[in-house]
Amino acid sequence: MTETIGFIGTGTITAAIVRGLKASAQGQRPVLLSPRSAQLSAELAAGLPGVSVASSNQDVLDRADLVVLAVRPQVAEAVLTDLRFAPEKPVISLIAGLDHDRLRAWTGVARLCRAIPLPFVESRNDAVPVFPPLPEAMQIFGALGQAMPVHDRAAFDAYATLSALMGSYFGIVEVAQDWGKAQGLTEAEARAYLGRMFANLGTVLQGSGLSLADLRHEHSTAGGLNEQAFAEFTKAGGTAALTAALNSVLRRAQG
Ligand SMILES: NC(=O)c1ccc[n+]([C@@H]2O[C@H](COP(=O)([O-])OP(=O)(O)OC[C@H]3O[C@@H](n4cnc5c(N)ncnc54)[C@H](OP(=O)(O)O)[C@@H]3O)[C@@H](O)[C@H]2O)c1
Repeated sequence: MTETIGFIGTGTITAAIVRGLKASAQGQRPVLLSPRSAQLSAELAAGLPGVSVASSNQDVLDRADLVVLAVRPQVAEAVLTDLRFAPEKPVISLIAGLDHDRLRAWTGVARLCRAIPLPFVESRNDAVPVFPPLPEAMQIFGALGQAMPVHDRAAFDAYATLSALMGSYFGIVEVAQDWGKAQGLTEAEARAYLGRMFANLGTVLQGSGLSLADLRHEHSTAGGLNEQAFAEFTKAGGTAALTAALNSVLRRAQG
């Protein structure tokens, strides 16, 4: 497989994909980057084999066999409608909240899909929802961990919404760390303790066949401290706040 992958938008997620891709079974594929983020594009091109920087966004479209769209939603319409897409070349859009109807209208491309790669593509350990499961995209994201075929819009929007919890995860750990500091732990001690505990919980979550409720009970002695913490978190509106946040993010993910 030697078809060139082009990227429109060379930011955080493009850099993670390109670095992961180059270390993967798809590493032989040439990569062509849009030139706008000059420093990052130059860094990727200098440090990775088979990565080059195009002279313009149009140059990416003209020379690549497949194009990944990775600009921010706010500039998407202006960027995409300014370009001439080859209708037969497949397009993978990573742009949050931009649905197929608008993508088709702005690009004229028929073979397109949306995907939600997270920064873990860089270590080739991500699970990437791909809607619909365009074979070219499944191949790329399969090499970056696991490509998850998604067949309907509601499921894709649900994954997009759940992916928005990364910041909240760190936010929760931050609150707990700061609380630990206030009790006299150093920041490093609190962080190391929480990091190990959450990493172990993630391993349990991935490896266990138990329901979440059962896992919670298994990790909460009856009448004990864990049971008390979750009961008080729920009573104070913690779980309701999380559900409300997800509902609100979903409305945005739906465009
Ligand atoms: N980060 C993630 O984990 C993640 C995950 C899934 C999906 N996404 C989606 O991927 C897209 C990119 O996210 P990101 O986090 O990578 O954002 P980012 O770091 O801000 O990257 C966006 C890039 O687009 C460039 N750009 C702006 N205008 C352009 C133009 N006219 N032509 C070419 N490039 C242009 C920006 O260049 P300048 O820096 O020069 O402005 C920037 O390098 C977003 O739509 C986001 O929703 C991100």
